[in-house]
Amino acid sequence: MRNLTTFLSIAILLAFNACQSPQSNKKDAIGTKIDSLISLMTIEEKVGQLTLYTSDMDQTGAYIRKEYESDIKQGKVGAIFNAYGADYTRRLQEMAVNSTRLRIPLLFGYDVIHGHRTIFPVPLAEAASWNISAIQNAARIAAEEATAEGLHWTFAPMCDISRDPRWGRMVEGAGEDPFLASLIAEARVKGFQGDDLASNNTLAACVKHLAAYGASQAGRDYHAVDMSENILREVYLPPYKAAVDAGAVTVMTSFNDLNGIPATANKFLLTDLLRDEWGFEGFVVTDYTSIMELLHHGVAADTAEAAAISLKAGVDMDMQSGFFQKTLPTLVENKQLDEALIDEAVRRILKVKFQLGLFDDPYRYISKEREENDIMNPAQLEAARDMAKRSIVLLRNEKQTLPISTKVKNIAVIGPMGDNKRDMIGSWSAAGDWSKSVSLMEGLQARYPGANIQFAKGCEIEGTDKTGFREAKQIAEKADFVILALGEAYWMSGEAASRSTIDLPGVQQELAALIIETGKPTATIIFSGRPLTINWLAENSPALLQAWFLGTQSGHALADVVSGYYNPSGKLPVTFPRNVGQIPIYYSMKNTGRPFDANNKYTSKYLDVPNEPLYAFGYGLSYTKFVYSKLQMDKHSITAQDSIRFSLEVQNTGKLAGEEVVQVYVHDQLATITRPVRELKAFKNVFLKPGETQKISFSLPIEALYFYKADLSYGSEPGKFTIFAGGDSNASLSTAFELR
Ligand code: GLC
Repeated sequence: MRNLTTFLSIAILLAFNACQSPQSNKKDAIGTKIDSLISLMTIEEKVGQLTLYTSDMDQTGAYIRKEYESDIKQGKVGAIFNAYGADYTRRLQEMAVNSTRLRIPLLFGYDVIHGHRTIFPVPLAEAASWNISAIQNAARIAAEEATAEGLHWTFAPMCDISRDPRWGRMVEGAGEDPFLASLIAEARVKGFQGDDLASNNTLAACVKHLAAYGASQAGRDYHAVDMSENILREVYLPPYKAAVDAGAVTVMTSFNDLNGIPATANKFLLTDLLRDEWGFEGFVVTDYTSIMELLHHGVAADTAEAAAISLKAGVDMDMQSGFFQKTLPTLVENKQLDEALIDEAVRRILKVKFQLGLFDDPYRYISKEREENDIMNPAQLEAARDMAKRSIVLLRNEKQTLPISTKVKNIAVIGPMGDNKRDMIGSWSAAGDWSKSVSLMEGLQARYPGANIQFAKGCEIEGTDKTGFREAKQIAEKADFVILALGEAYWMSGEAASRSTIDLPGVQQELAALIIETGKPTATIIFSGRPLTINWLAENSPALLQAWFLGTQSGHALADVVSGYYNPSGKLPVTFPRNVGQIPIYYSMKNTGRPFDANNKYTSKYLDVPNEPLYAFGYGLSYTKFVYSKLQMDKHSITAQDSIRFSLEVQNTGKLAGEEVVQVYVHDQLATITRPVRELKAFKNVFLKPGETQKISFSLPIEALYFYKADLSYGSEPGKFTIFAGGDSNASLSTAFELR
């Protein structure tokens, strides 16, 4: 009897599909199809769509646990993550489509964070490029490769603002500033999702981790987050909202609690803000087992309560805890939970599957031909190299130590990152094969074919062994130029990788001192997923570069920069503290009632360190020099109906062409609440030939002056404002205007 019912039901559904008039509104048609499908589903099948489980890997390769395979074939799982590859995803999809009653296709998700096979610079490095179009292109290429291997959905962009470099996941985000991070979040969503989610080379994006995960107390991962709603809205929420506004179809909850309510059970975040205020229509997935973690948070007494409160708060899909699968059918059967809540979650998830075109063709993202041709091709590798060189930040270059002349004959490369391939692709490197990454040594050998390039590791990344120092010093003494390659291992940043100190690990600092005291021309390159307290190097290394983790093409990008083939243009997306004691430290601080005054003890300062950071947000040098002048406004008194129009001139006074990120900051001098000393409100990437001067014009919308007031209303207030323009957040060229 049951089979006949099923057959008739499916026949009705298919007949309905056939009679759909082509001109009917696609959205309504999908909605109607979804409703008819839901009407056929058992409660177990509905909850199956709310369940996401991981694929696993062992020495024989990818595999699916027996219990998950059984669940898939019974329609009790709707999505699998960490599974990719044409053959493997086909096998899993066939389980769902051929064995289940309703043939609902699986969704395949994966952490494609900064590339899938061709690994781009880590997200924090990409942010250092301040090049929005390059960042969008990087996400586009990641989507091309990921979908060529059967994937539909990436758990990216990570949009967590972070102002605490002890937190290892700073590496995954776009830094400390909401304006820059919002533009980057939007670009990444557009890059992943493209113009048509149903196209077989676009990925569903996932805005994570809602919300404010980057403010984990003391920089300790998964720790509590507590802040005013004013700061939450002013600083931490904008990038998530920018990603939602860009059309992201999924959102992921964060592990942390926010003001006492875990994000995964936080109705304010997941319903009132995300859906009611922002109009989000996609689905919400939890982070890994975070429904189960409500038990540890102490806000749920048992599995059923954890499942119920997260569903009621606005969660649609349970990543890996299995709590929905285990408890929701019984709660509904016992009338302890309204099935309509589950239907709504199912509706949201099925809608994304329809949008991806999976109901038209569950195998549309599976193609052996694409898997062979659309991965690590020359164009993709070239884009990764371009992104990488734009991500490098020149921090110091005394006496034009860099670039290294191609006439140099003897180069010594010293340090544990010098011939390193694994660490180059950083954390969250998806399906990237580190053995295919280009090391610094390989990049230099390709760029300086005639030079004698010697390598000595000197020491490990961590540990106290200095036995390699002697050999390192020997090759340094024989060289014409020395490159020190130092930093963190890839696993020292990323998830569960908070550090209580952010010094160079191990004995690398001592190695650097030994080498630099030889007096040889030396450039130090720092590889890390966060700012490090490189104070001594900032004073003593003639040249200093921040290279983050630059991905597959690291070595070539670094060689492009140290050789001057590419004039470095990167700017820091995060502040570099002098020590951990300064943290949290960021450029848009408040002035306080006792701003620092060197002549007054009783002002805001430390006894043992200046207030200023080691390096400021937005800072980065070039091999040439840019001079700013003539900052002029169209008018110095405006109304709320006006735009804020002004221009300035930038001149390249050096001998090399180069790109500059012209930055514009605004200070609200007087308001009903305290305002930051300045905030980034615009920037432009400008390329200037030697001697060239360009007039750069800006027109800011009046919304650039909006802020959240004490009553959380959002808008501007009349008063005086200062505009600062320059090459970093200490820009001194300024002018003032009044909003009447
Ligand atoms: C991890 C991360 C999250 C990731 C998810 C799936 O714990 O917090 O960013 O997307 O699990 O791997």
